[in-house]
Amino acid sequence: MRKILVTGALGQIGSELVLELRRQYGNDNVIASNRSKKDGHDTVYDSGPFELLDIRDGNRANEIIDKYKINTIINLAAILSAVGEQKPTMCWDVNMNGLYTLLEIAREKNLMLFNPSSIAAFGPSTPADQTPQDTIQRPTSMYGVTKVAGEILCDYYHQKFGVDTRGVRFPGLISNDTLPGGGTTDYAVHIYYEAIRKKSYTSFIRKGTKMDMMYMPDAIKSIVELMEADPTKLVHRNAFNITAMSVAPEDIEASIKKFIPEFTLDYDVDPVRQAIADSWPNSLDASAAKAEWGYEPDYDLDKMTKDMLDTLSEKLK
Ligand code: NAD
Ligand code: SER
Repeated sequence: MRKILVTGALGQIGSELVLELRRQYGNDNVIASNRSKKDGHDTVYDSGPFELLDIRDGNRANEIIDKYKINTIINLAAILSAVGEQKPTMCWDVNMNGLYTLLEIAREKNLMLFNPSSIAAFGPSTPADQTPQDTIQRPTSMYGVTKVAGEILCDYYHQKFGVDTRGVRFPGLISNDTLPGGGTTDYAVHIYYEAIRKKSYTSFIRKGTKMDMMYMPDAIKSIVELMEADPTKLVHRNAFNITAMSVAPEDIEASIKKFIPEFTLDYDVDPVRQAIADSWPNSLDASAAKAEWGYEPDYDLDKMTKDMLDTLSEKLK
């Protein structure tokens, strides 16, 4: 039986992942944790155990892991790309020292560790179209530096110590429960909220900027499927490319217009986030994830847009 500790569980992914894991593995078998408590997460607090945990605090992590007899860690605690450029020291500290702390515990206690990477692990010298699984990785953001270093560190702990490390390179994730935590792809979430609220949106990412994206149910599915995948089939283990769509702001605009014809989009580009976006791939080749553990997303752009708009029109009433 899995006993799962989710770190950073009150973020964009964790707040939805915890509820799905509790549905699948049982409420008491999924321990949510975060550095601090936040308002608006009663469903997480009320449906199962919650603990305060800063992932850089190894003593506290050990205490929680022993208390609940944890055998699987899903590490979602991180500083994302835009905040990472504002606070590079904190980004390095949380994303690297936090991960290292958890990897050491996983080694000592023989735990499985799922640690997500990102499209940010690529850089301007990476082939931008159909970016291969194995290719040049020279990212230019601090977040990207920590993501590629994290991939390599997780590989090292598997090869050297036999730790069962696994991970995907998430594209930008679009969701309607918890707002994103300060990334470059956040525009692709905000656009839907504003489409419902104001029928218009001003994008901080320039027209024509293609990035990979995915709807949250597909991201959650990827975590569970990779966690349960047959390890003998995993050639890559850490940092599988996955994607559901490659879109620019005007593609999302066109999709929203199918449901809200009067929706309008204009632009006020943020140079910092635009530079990050320009350094990332236009589209990923996700064939290794399909070949090694059968991963395929369920949502394309229009199917996601319909679900986002239906859900948000109820939520924002
Ligand atoms: P988020 O910013 O929404 O949530 C991160 C959570 O971690 C927050 O609740 C924050 O309070 C918590 N946290 C920060 N520092 C902490 C610390 N030291 N100890 C414990 N908790 C801490 O992030 P997210 O979008 O849920 O992303 C989760 C993971 O997925 C990250 O590794 C991120 O790089 C990766 N990822 C996310 C996306 C995306 O679009 N959301 C895309 C690619 C990769
Ligand atoms: N959505 C994330 C970000 O923009 C990608 O890792 O930072």
